[in-house]
Amino acid sequence: MSLSRTPFSAAASANPHVIPPAPGTTETLGTTEASDHADPEHAAARTLPESLLPTLPGADYTDPEVFREEQRRIFERMWFCLARSADLDRPGRFQTHQVGGESVLVTRSRDGSVRAFLNICRHRGAQLCTAPEGEVRRGFQCPYHAWTYDLDGRLVAAPNLTGMPDVDRRDYGLLRAHVREWLGYVWVCLDEHPPSFEEQVIGAVTARLGDRAHVEAYGVEGLSLGHRVSYDVRANWKLIIENFMECYHCATIHPELTEVLPEFSDGFAAQYYVGHGAEFGSEVRGFTIDGGAGQEPLPGLREEQDRRYYAITVRPQVFLNLVPDHVIVHRMYPMAVDRTVIECDWLYLPGVVAEGTDLSRSVELFHRVNEQDFDACERCQRAMGSRAYERGGVLVPSEHHIGEFHGWVRDRLAGSDGTDETGGAAE
Ligand code: FES
Ligand SMILES: [Fe+2]
Repeated sequence: MSLSRTPFSAAASANPHVIPPAPGTTETLGTTEASDHADPEHAAARTLPESLLPTLPGADYTDPEVFREEQRRIFERMWFCLARSADLDRPGRFQTHQVGGESVLVTRSRDGSVRAFLNICRHRGAQLCTAPEGEVRRGFQCPYHAWTYDLDGRLVAAPNLTGMPDVDRRDYGLLRAHVREWLGYVWVCLDEHPPSFEEQVIGAVTARLGDRAHVEAYGVEGLSLGHRVSYDVRANWKLIIENFMECYHCATIHPELTEVLPEFSDGFAAQYYVGHGAEFGSEVRGFTIDGGAGQEPLPGLREEQDRRYYAITVRPQVFLNLVPDHVIVHRMYPMAVDRTVIECDWLYLPGVVAEGTDLSRSVELFHRVNEQDFDACERCQRAMGSRAYERGGVLVPSEHHIGEFHGWVRDRLAGSDGTDETGGAAE
């Protein structure tokens, strides 16, 4: 496969095994190979002014084959933030979620640990649980022929099993996924050989903030859920990440946010600089819709964390937002090439939630930001299939770091991220 000669076009990316060159690389913008000059599409990419980098082509946001590869090589291989630990607060409580192309069942077992399984009966493959959440007493019984599994996924009963003495029940338990809990969330990995959680997840947070103690100061795992909104967004997951990574749009679509964080009106995203948090405006008293006072700052915050907003992207599907009195966590569930469900949690000190404090002005700020952002993403999604976007668009300098994200996606799809073809759920 010759990547360097692949035109930066929709036709090329329609085949997930032929990955167009990463934007921003010399393969796209370079000037060496004479044969490339004969290709009008490639030549067009090369004539971009220095200020501009190319985006991904439109088909990367509309082609179900590309999405299937992303499911396989990104969401089914990496650590995926699945559920909030507190939503599984006792044995038998469960949730089901789509991770890549798989349905995953997550529950808490009798010993208090979280277990995650592929939600598939080992008999003839019926989906075990169809409810998005619920609670069972002892285990899960398949509604088809009543094979029954305990909370650790062991096959404990099946009709006529005693008449099959050669069948070892241990061989027919549910297939397990790897599980970690961090920041009060359950993260799962479907790959048999998961990447290092410390590198992929904790590493992403510390790389952005400068050190791990920075996020630990917020005590996220000890916070309580004050509010949750689930957004069903008609847009490809990459558009949502790209939007979150840049603030070129902030002055246009986020009037309330830029009032609170005046530096956002300059278009430079807080995520651009290691350790940087956007400072509240001098008149602003809290991270609220009208800049009025919020709650007391979280105990343990460093002085320099007060009156600042930090945004962190944890690839492939989590956004963390840290402000002095609360934390906002976005979990994305990519459902289809053009559809992403986003669960957004607003977390506060347990006492604040328990007292029934009015959090509406606090919640309203980022809820409005979410609606503004997702509306913009849907607007882009509607245009991704247009011939006008066949070769993609351009990134201005304050968006150039999105090119690195595009390169990362392409590396994952090309398999050049160190993973091999043998991924699968661990037993
Ligand atoms: S498919 Fe589940 S018991 Fe038969
Ligand atoms: Fe935004």
